[in-house]
Amino acid sequence: MNCMAVDSFYVKANGEVPCWCSPGEHHPILQISEESLAGKDVVDDVLNGEAFRRMRTELHAGRLPFDYCRGCSFLRNDGEAAWKSVDTATGVVRAIDTLQVESSFLCNVDCPLCVRLPVRRQTKEPPYQLELGLFRKVVDDLSAHEIAVREVWFSGRGEPLMNPEFPELVRLGKDRLGARVTAHTNGNFGFREELVTCGLDEIEIAFDGVDQETYGRYRRGGKLERVVKFATDFAAARKRLGSATPELVWKMVLFEWNSTDEELERAVTWAEEIGLDRVLLMNTDTPGGMSYRDGGARFEQLEPLVKRLVSEHPTVKVELHGYHSTYSSLPEVEASLRTEVVEADRTVVMGRLFNHMLETRAVRVSLRLQDEIGGEDRTLVEVPLELPERTELVESFGVPHEGLSPGTYRVWVAVSDAESGKLLSDAACDFELS
Ligand SMILES: C[S@@+](CC[C@H](N)C(=O)[O-])C[C@H]1O[C@@H](n2cnc3c(N)ncnc32)[C@H](O)[C@@H]1O
Repeated sequence: MNCMAVDSFYVKANGEVPCWCSPGEHHPILQISEESLAGKDVVDDVLNGEAFRRMRTELHAGRLPFDYCRGCSFLRNDGEAAWKSVDTATGVVRAIDTLQVESSFLCNVDCPLCVRLPVRRQTKEPPYQLELGLFRKVVDDLSAHEIAVREVWFSGRGEPLMNPEFPELVRLGKDRLGARVTAHTNGNFGFREELVTCGLDEIEIAFDGVDQETYGRYRRGGKLERVVKFATDFAAARKRLGSATPELVWKMVLFEWNSTDEELERAVTWAEEIGLDRVLLMNTDTPGGMSYRDGGARFEQLEPLVKRLVSEHPTVKVELHGYHSTYSSLPEVEASLRTEVVEADRTVVMGRLFNHMLETRAVRVSLRLQDEIGGEDRTLVEVPLELPERTELVESFGVPHEGLSPGTYRVWVAVSDAESGKLLSDAACDFELS
C-alpha cells in the first residue's frame, strides 16, 4: 500500500502539514511556523519526524495509518516503485517527488466544491498567507540535507497569486531547490511581468468554460474576460521578454454544462489564438463533473474528438486527463436516519438529507413505519422538497406509539426524484417497544 504522502510533502498557508490534500486537508499531522522551527530541522523533525516515519512504515506494512485513509483517492497499491526514495524499514525519505505549497488560503473566486468564500476565515486559523520566512526555512533545510525535489507545486485550497510574495516564493523554490516550479491560478488578476521572470516553469490557468455563463457556473464571482486578458498579457510579455517559460496552460475542468464538442473546439482555437502552449481537458469525478451521472459515456466520446483536435491544432498541445477524487462514490442525494430517543408515547427519529449536486434538486421524501412481521406498514410522511445545491437538511420527526403493540419497528426513508420517480437514496433505523 502506498500514497502520495510516501514521497511528497504539503505545507499549507498557516503552516499546517497534512498528509496530502483530499481528506488529509482536514487532518493536519503537524503545524509548523518559523518560531516553532527555531533550533529544529524540517527534514529531521518534520519530513522524517516520528509522525511521518510512522505513517510510511504503517503504509508499507499494508496498514492504514489513519481512519480517514479509507476511501482516500490518493491511497494506492501500485507496488514497490513508489517506495524508491524511502528507507522502508525506518520510513525515512531521501527525495521528494512533489512539494505542494499553499502560498495563500485566501481566494477571490467562490467555487462551490472548495472552501466557500464567506467561511474561509472561520474554517482555518491564520496566517492566511504562507510566510516567506517559513518557506525559506523549509527550502534551506531541504537543500542542506541535499533532498532532491522534483517539483514545487503552488496550489492548495486558496489562490496562489493572492500571496503578495508569490514571486519570491517561486524564486526560492527554483533557485534553492532547482525544482520544476508549477502553479495553478484562477487568473482573475491583472498581469505582472515578474510572473514571467520569477522562475515559474508552468502555470495552469483555470478556463472552466468558453463563455461567462458556463464559466461562472463553477467559477462563481470570476470573470472570464479578466482571465482572457491575464492569459493574453502573459503570452505577450513572455514573447516580448524572449522567455521560453513558463509554459502557459488552458486548464479546463469538464462539467456537464461546459463540454459540448463545440465548446471544446472553441477552447482549443481560443487557446491557440491567445498564444497558450497546452490545453488540459480535465475530466472530474466530482459532482457536476461531465460524466458523474452518465457512467463515463461522455468521457469515452471525447477520445476521438481530442484526437481530431490534436491533429488540427499542431501549435497547441491538447490533452485529456482523468481526475480521481474522493467524491466519486457519493450518491447524488444521500439520506440517513437514526433513532434519537424512545419516549413513553413516541419515538423521535432524526433524518439527514444531503444534496451533493451543484443544482437544486426537487425530491419526494417518504417515511414509512413497518414492524418485523409485516403487520404494521404505514406511511408516516410523504412530502415534496426542494433541496438547494450542496445543502444538508436535518429534521427530527416523532413517531406516535398509539396503536402499536410491543415489538421491533423499522422506520424507512426513501428519497426519489420528483420528476422521474427514480429512487435516489434510502435509509432505515429501528426501535424497540416493550
Ligand atoms: C482548488 S484549485 C486552487 C488553485 C487556484 N485557486 C485555481 O483555481 O486553480 C486547485 C486545482 O483544482 C482544480 N479543481 C477545482 N475544482 C475541481 C473539480 N471539481 N474537479 C477537479 N479539479 C478541480 C482547479 O482547476 C485547480 O487546477
